[in-house]
Amino acid sequence: MNLESFVLYDRVHQCVTLSGVASKKGRGITTEDLGVIENAAMVVDSNTARIVWIGKSDQIPQQYQQIPNRFDCDGEVWIPELIECHTHLIFAGDRSHDFAMRASGKTYSEIAAQGGGILTTLSHTREASFEELLENAKLEIDRFQKWGVGTLEIKSGYGLSLESELKILKCIQVLQTQVPVQLIPTFMPAHAVPPEYKNRSDDYVSLICSEWIPEVAQAKLAQYFDVFIEDGFFSVSQAEKLCLVAQDHDLQIKIHADQFKSLGGTSLAVRLNAQSVDHLDQISPQDIEALSKSNTVAVLCPGASLFTGTPYAPARKLIDSGARVALTTDFNPGTCPSRNLPLMTTLACAQMKMTIPEAIAGITYNAAAALGLENEIGSLEVGKQFRVCQLKADSYESLPYCFGELD
Ligand code: NIG
Ligand code: FE
Repeated sequence: MNLESFVLYDRVHQCVTLSGVASKKGRGITTEDLGVIENAAMVVDSNTARIVWIGKSDQIPQQYQQIPNRFDCDGEVWIPELIECHTHLIFAGDRSHDFAMRASGKTYSEIAAQGGGILTTLSHTREASFEELLENAKLEIDRFQKWGVGTLEIKSGYGLSLESELKILKCIQVLQTQVPVQLIPTFMPAHAVPPEYKNRSDDYVSLICSEWIPEVAQAKLAQYFDVFIEDGFFSVSQAEKLCLVAQDHDLQIKIHADQFKSLGGTSLAVRLNAQSVDHLDQISPQDIEALSKSNTVAVLCPGASLFTGTPYAPARKLIDSGARVALTTDFNPGTCPSRNLPLMTTLACAQMKMTIPEAIAGITYNAAAALGLENEIGSLEVGKQFRVCQLKADSYESLPYCFGELD
């Protein structure tokens, strides 16, 4: 056997593989499912950047013992590289004034109805040049990377004209050639009704269906399509129309549902076999039932609840019913301007009563599942990509404990 292309990582103090999480496909997670190996070793094929063997340091098979390229990882704690499965990362300007208004008692929906909210970011983003958006996005991606993120989904949705939505999606395309993080692009033209279509949202939906989706799909600028179902934004029937056209054009579906009001968006997501349904703070008991029996991943956004002062999603009920639950920052200027994905595990454990294994799976394996990438990343197993996040800690339990300050 030619060992030249292999690398041996030896004596890893603690390696959190999530092997059991993967075999249970992210449901019913126990501590054992983390598959923690104390004093671990790993063999990686540097040609493919995939794991070829993993186990205990004192059980390295004979054929790998002579690998010349080896690293002593004594004292290191490894978990899979973190996956951020939901961001609105490309925008200009900030929304500190929205925050000030909420601090004075206004709600998110009231601010939006008065022309603030997403529409404030819309005007700044439309005015911004491609280069400005690109430079700003690079800074943001860099911040995510510092928190251990290696794969990151980005939605459009602050342009809401064909020209500016294309500007955002092309920005993601160019970013992918300039940053080491793997980017997943999502087209989200139904994020809000743009001012040109005020009181004519059906016309806006028809335009997206007849012209924008075909153009974006044809140019292969997005993998997913997302829509915000909420009073004052888009209805379930508008979302259904949009998603069916998107699916016809080979875009996969994600849906923002039940953030402030339960309108039936989760049932739609399940009916459409969406990859994920996100937020769910106000999900109804029937929709918990339906979602738990489906393959659609429940993506929870505790940072948005914290920042808007609204209820947290019923994580325990979802998990105990059998749902696959992922966690995200939902990074955006309005409801969660945080890039700190580890902090979301602190909120998940302390505020939503998730266990540490559930929270860790939420930013690794189940976040990969929310992007359809769970056979590639999200756990450390033979055949999977060698993507590791090294914690500056003695144990994986420090990740939620450190309150977002583990650097
Ligand atoms: O996921 N809910 C809709 N979209 C974002 C908020 C966007 C904004 O307010 O700018 C969210 O919370
Ligand atoms: Fe969002």
